Amino acid sequence: MTKTTAIYAPSPDDARRILDEIEDQFRLPKEDLMRITSQFLEDFALGLSEYNHPMAMIPTFVTGVPDGSETGTFLALDLGGTNLRVCEVELLGNHEFVLRQQKYKVSDALKTGEATTLFDYLADSVDAFLTEFASAVPSSPSFEQPNPFGSPTLSEEPAVPLGLTFSFPVEQTALDQGKILTWTKGFAAKNAVGNDVVKLLQDAFDRKHLHVKCVALVNDTVGALLSRAYTGGSCVLGAIFGTGTNGAYVERVENIKKLGDSPARQRGGHMIVNAEWGAFNNTRTVLPTTPYDNKVDRQSINPRLQGFEKFISGMYLGEILRNMLISLVDAAPKPLLFNGRSSGPLNTHYGLDTAVMSEIEDAWETGRVPVVPVLDSDAAKSNTNGIAAEELASVPDWQSAFFTEVDKLSPDDKARLERVQGIIVQRLALDPADVSLHDAAVVRWATSLVANRAARLSGCAVAAVLVQTERAKLGGGFATDEEKICVGVDGSLIQHYPNFNARLRESLRELVGDEVEAKVEIGLAKDGSGVGAALCALQAIKQGH
Ligand code: GLC
Repeated sequence: MTKTTAIYAPSPDDARRILDEIEDQFRLPKEDLMRITSQFLEDFALGLSEYNHPMAMIPTFVTGVPDGSETGTFLALDLGGTNLRVCEVELLGNHEFVLRQQKYKVSDALKTGEATTLFDYLADSVDAFLTEFASAVPSSPSFEQPNPFGSPTLSEEPAVPLGLTFSFPVEQTALDQGKILTWTKGFAAKNAVGNDVVKLLQDAFDRKHLHVKCVALVNDTVGALLSRAYTGGSCVLGAIFGTGTNGAYVERVENIKKLGDSPARQRGGHMIVNAEWGAFNNTRTVLPTTPYDNKVDRQSINPRLQGFEKFISGMYLGEILRNMLISLVDAAPKPLLFNGRSSGPLNTHYGLDTAVMSEIEDAWETGRVPVVPVLDSDAAKSNTNGIAAEELASVPDWQSAFFTEVDKLSPDDKARLERVQGIIVQRLALDPADVSLHDAAVVRWATSLVANRAARLSGCAVAAVLVQTERAKLGGGFATDEEKICVGVDGSLIQHYPNFNARLRESLRELVGDEVEAKVEIGLAKDGSGVGAALCALQAIKQGH
């Protein structure tokens, strides 16, 4: 008998099995969250006790948090997110501030070229800002000395004090000193790693004869922490969930063992530590790696680095989804998406922006459940719980409206799915004839899988800090009698991605229990980078730098 090969066409059940397998890989049950958080705590301890650990646990030399009474006007320069920003920040001393800012684009050529070219561009941007906003106030009304910077000649005006928010790993040795450890988030400028970032910037100012002095260096997470403390009165953790992810928190100096018996350690008290948690578990022993993640990592400019960040942050989520969608387009023996057709954006590295995921989820959620936003600072003042329990209960279940059930959708749900379909056609530049409602449902499902995993993993990082600072116990139970635990956050994901915050909180609740989670107030650290840099500049000046 001749053996014939049957042409296999997957039935909906077969297709569902394939998708179920993917879904299984993205599931993060409580046990996994617990394991990941325990590993976080171990890595915190290692990073605090030795230098050169991937979880860098960088002492920032910022030894206090503001209380909102600070005053002064400062320049701030912020490099590390999607844009470069120059701001003038006026601290009004009543928890409020006024900020004027200008954004400048940083091209890929600048990100990957010579460091001096990049820093010259930073200096030019500051110059342009000062020219444009000629009123930029050059000194702080709160200075007690007329000129805090050395002893210029009588005719010389004091230099304009500037705080630099530099959101990359930097081994800080003082408030205004620190060596770049490595680049992250797509930057790779040459001849920068190993050099003092303040000096690189100051040299550029000096080359351009700009009368500006960089007095303080701060990471964006530290900025978020400081600015949240300034506007809200207290804060234990500043976290960024944006292009990258990271957190800074207030640690007891005695726990920062790697400071040895340096004067800073001997003084004791507290110090803000920049965890650089984006580099958590680079070896991926506990991170739930899928083939799509491996591809993201392999094709990135920093393979095997920033392990955690590649699961969480805005720079990578779209790329994970793109890899998954392509694998479904290419599924053998029969495509599971878009009639087996791909498109320009789908075929392009980083061609699917995380903002598109956000649009898809938004289109799907709108009109169905309230999209739960992160609190802004004003709302946070009047609400200690952050998000009401009933709102949390309505967080959408990403397994619902599975593609096999599209035919049974209500007219309302169908309309929502059509909106998703429209976004896919437009953003992925696909032929409308190749994007069915089933496809739209699958893409929405895949989008939520990636985002839900990111938000749940983010909850592990927050929980780890609460346990590390003895405010919570892993698995639940009180460790603190504080009434509220303030966390300041910033970044495009937490600000704009529908329900990222709510999903993060769900994970946090599983990890630290209902009572502690209810005390956690996650509030937006609005303009954290600018305000944080200004606050650090103020501290530097007070310390006589
Ligand atoms: C990256 C950087 C880190 C920064 C974070 C958020 O992880 O290494 O310094 O805080 O992105 O911008």
